[in-house]
Amino acid sequence: MAHLFEPIKIREVTFRNRIAVSPMCQYSSTNGYANEWHLIHLASRAVGGAGLVFTEAAAIEPKGRISPQDLGIWSDKHIEYLEKIVHSIDKYGAVAGMQLAHAGRKASTAKPSRGGKPVDESQEGWRPVISSSAIPFSSEHPTPEALTIEGIQEIINAFVQAAKRSAQAGFKVIEIHAAHGYLLHQFLSPLVNQREDEYGGSFENRIRLLVKIVERVRRILSDKYLLWVRISATDWVENGWDIEQSIALSQKLKSLGVDVIDSSSGGIIPGVNIPLKPGYQTEFAERIRREADIATGAVGLITLPEQADEIICTGKADIVLLGRELLRNPYWANSAAKQLGHEKLWPLQYDRAW
Ligand SMILES: Cc1cc2nc3c(=O)[nH]c(=O)nc-3n(C[C@H](O)[C@H](O)[C@H](O)COP(=O)(O)O)c2cc1C
Repeated sequence: MAHLFEPIKIREVTFRNRIAVSPMCQYSSTNGYANEWHLIHLASRAVGGAGLVFTEAAAIEPKGRISPQDLGIWSDKHIEYLEKIVHSIDKYGAVAGMQLAHAGRKASTAKPSRGGKPVDESQEGWRPVISSSAIPFSSEHPTPEALTIEGIQEIINAFVQAAKRSAQAGFKVIEIHAAHGYLLHQFLSPLVNQREDEYGGSFENRIRLLVKIVERVRRILSDKYLLWVRISATDWVENGWDIEQSIALSQKLKSLGVDVIDSSSGGIIPGVNIPLKPGYQTEFAERIRREADIATGAVGLITLPEQADEIICTGKADIVLLGRELLRNPYWANSAAKQLGHEKLWPLQYDRAW
């Protein structure tokens, strides 16, 4: 039986352990560019022993940013600094992962330290925001423009170009962000998608945009690259997107060459009561893994080494992703290795502290 520190190989990519840094916005970019903050932040977590280090959500086009300070990958000019980051992550033993995203109707908001509310052009924001349908996220948010068929084609192309740039920068894992109420989730969920064309209504129609993106992106990636998709396995709302649809979607994505389903949840509408507790989303990773027969990542309030190890040892997921715990402690993987009695990952420079 596998354990947390057993390396895992998927296609031609080997991870030294099953611990991943979950994508986390840093609200530290100007015009989408990565900078020294991202380099230090991400490389520290590679030094800290993680097997996979994801960037934050990188916007595939400027109006796909959640905040004006988000990372972006809509231009070839973004590649150079990202390449430097990948080089450092590789050098310290981790695999570098890029998350590609479009915020849709949740775009153009202030960064959390500035209150997180929608901002317009007067505060570095932009209009219009776009979505599957012209329904705002809340009464405070702008009403989005429903994408036309031509607009959808442009989004697909932008994801493909962004994936190409990611590969060019050296990222070995490319994750399509289809969770947390952002644009692709706004197509998946019947709570938002009210379209009457081939992108709305039935399950097949609602998943069509994601499926087209995955088909096109997988086609440009060789076996040296992994394609992950992050989904919200449930909206936690009756008549919303749910685990059964997630399983059916995952089966389809597997057939298209997706390697891992990163199983998160929620975010599609405000005010939803989510039953938070340690490992509260792991059950979704487990069901998708078992019922869609695809590798999964478990995420959400995983903080303890024994807890993470149990998830892997009992076959609930293939990889665990940690967010806030890895903000608190970039060396979590090292400490966990010590606690669970595995070989040290500790860099030689820190050896006397082991
Ligand atoms: C500061 C912060 C920024 C985040 N940014 C992203 C992001 O860019 N993309 C994403 O998919 N999830 C994002 N998340 C969600 C995390 O990846 C993770 O799924 C969530 O925090 C739950 O895991 P945790 O309990 O280990 O923190 C963010 C979370 C935090 C705390």
